[in-house]
Amino acid sequence: MSQSIESVLTETRSFPPPPDFAKDARVGSFIDYESLYDRAAREPETFWAEIASELAWATPWKKVLEGKLPDGSNPEAPAPKWFVGGKLNASVSCLDRHAASWRKNKAAIIFEGEPGDTRVLTYGQLHREVCKAANALTELGVREGDFVAIYMPMIPEAAVAMLACARIGAPHTVVFGGFSAEALRDRILDAKAKIVITADGGWRRGQIVPLKENVDKAVIGTAVSTVLVVKRCDTPYTWHDRDVWWHEVVTPASPKHVAKPHDSEHTLFTLYTSGTTGKPKGILHTTGGYLTVAAYTSKLVFDLRDDDVFWCTADIGWVTGHSYVVYGPLANGATVVMYEGAPNQPGPDRFWQIIEKWGVTVFYTAPTAIRAFMRWGDEWPAKHDLSSLRLLGSVGEPINPEAWMWYRLQIGGDRCPIVDTWWQTETGGIMISPLPGATPTKPGSATRPLPGIAADIVKKDGTSCGPNDGGFLVVRKPWPSMLRTIAGDHERFVKTYFGEVANCYFAGDGARKDADGYFWIMGRVDDVINVAGHRLSTMEVESALVSHPKVAEAAVVGRPDELKGQAIVAFVTPRMGFVADDALARELREHVVKEIGALARPEEVRFAEALPKTRSGKIMRRLLREVASGSAARGDTTTLEDQGVLERLAQSFAQDE
Ligand code: PRX
Repeated sequence: MSQSIESVLTETRSFPPPPDFAKDARVGSFIDYESLYDRAAREPETFWAEIASELAWATPWKKVLEGKLPDGSNPEAPAPKWFVGGKLNASVSCLDRHAASWRKNKAAIIFEGEPGDTRVLTYGQLHREVCKAANALTELGVREGDFVAIYMPMIPEAAVAMLACARIGAPHTVVFGGFSAEALRDRILDAKAKIVITADGGWRRGQIVPLKENVDKAVIGTAVSTVLVVKRCDTPYTWHDRDVWWHEVVTPASPKHVAKPHDSEHTLFTLYTSGTTGKPKGILHTTGGYLTVAAYTSKLVFDLRDDDVFWCTADIGWVTGHSYVVYGPLANGATVVMYEGAPNQPGPDRFWQIIEKWGVTVFYTAPTAIRAFMRWGDEWPAKHDLSSLRLLGSVGEPINPEAWMWYRLQIGGDRCPIVDTWWQTETGGIMISPLPGATPTKPGSATRPLPGIAADIVKKDGTSCGPNDGGFLVVRKPWPSMLRTIAGDHERFVKTYFGEVANCYFAGDGARKDADGYFWIMGRVDDVINVAGHRLSTMEVESALVSHPKVAEAAVVGRPDELKGQAIVAFVTPRMGFVADDALARELREHVVKEIGALARPEEVRFAEALPKTRSGKIMRRLLREVASGSAARGDTTTLEDQGVLERLAQSFAQDE
């Protein structure tokens, strides 16, 4: 790698892969990474075909890739297809082939409940559970192509439910258990789900999250005719005709199930994520392409081995939980840890306790969590023997160099490489990341794209930016796990991802590349905010606010936050006759929680008699962002309709501080 003077001057320290790690790694030098990258760029189809062939295909594909990135000006342009004509069953690739090998009695899932209960499911056992659930779902009337909503705590049944859906070809739509009943209902309706799999409750910080109660509210007015309920907390519940206990239909079902192969392009799942409008997008992923990349990246980025104990702390309600708790590691026959609860229950060292107890070797978490651990103090990890760790990962938001260094020293003992992985719900798997045995790392940079991924930083016209020029993060070539559409809104899919930058997939992030070609992600350039690694659209929170009877108008922006990366600030104009006071601010914050979930609770509600708008009536968020972050509005304000609005907003802010 060229160590240019500029990079030495402008970038922080670089950490080469530890020789001990590199010696046994799948890719053991930067030269090997570069030659792999070049080979994949020269012959992408041969490259991806080799990787896909590691899955269990029932019928080989006829064509590796059909089509190209959609033309953004054609609303009907189809997404490219991968491994066309091939047939496979994702659950067979993740389970049957391991259960039929020496891995039969190897731990697949090590589960730790928040109250301290534990369960270990071997590949043989997990396979049997998934077969039972597949039989039970079929018995309940679920057919290939039917959408199944999953709203569960982080318990093994969640993974069983996902894999059982995959087995019978019923796409799943997992909804994060922290979403409210309202948010769940929107997703159930959009997915047209007729069955919901849930639990009576889940444990979080010593409390029971009332999942079943939320489902009861959410299904009113939907087509849901069956709710399958796991008994987890023994909490009181109301029973309805549509409800069925998991232990009454799944547990007694037959553990034998012959899986039917599905087309490579068969929908494996949809997962809702926030875009720039008020309506979440159902990101659709297919079987062959998605699984290929989930398996490939697990193997390469986490360097997974048969003796690894891999712990990705993400909830299955997010894409990270899909790809790196369930599909990726299990396709590799790895052992995963699944933890139900909060990182500080009962004490701030729960994660370190779990690492020590189970001998976790690879640990993957989010910068917000790392910053919280820093705040809680070095003494907590110091109490535990973390020497089993060999590799650390980060995902979900930019990691600041301070948090990176703390992670490296306090958790990784200054010995473990860190992989800062950039990707999205839409990409299905990791796109930009160091390879731990090959890529020297720089704190705060996700480094280089993985072999097979044609990522670049470009200007609006699609031309590449020069070193250190900020631009849009794009992908220039199709990759197997790219989303195929937004469920029910293909036009939005084409416009959002391919209509912004010519001939490229546009990720919505701003970034720059340094002189070494290292990517530095700067954050979203659209109206999406990233709060504690959770993606929210400003419009979604605004719609929640204006649905309150006392609100006339609302604008939501993100402001930098030391812990969560970004915090939500809501500017609200109350309807005439309502007093803008603390009580109303509290009421509105709780209203957002009810509409979306606690993750969307505004950090601050600011009242304003008017919001800054352009002459055409568009709210000028940029100005609000500047006001919210405490800086005077620096940008161009000449299009502002009423200059006084901004001054009054800034003044009200300054007075309160
Ligand atoms: O802004 C980027 C940020 O998270 C967004 C994707 O969010 P989501 O689809 O919820 O998926 C999160 C987990 C994959 C991206 O557009 N992001 C994700 N990883 C990183 C990141 N920003 C900087 N560095 C990362 N490693």
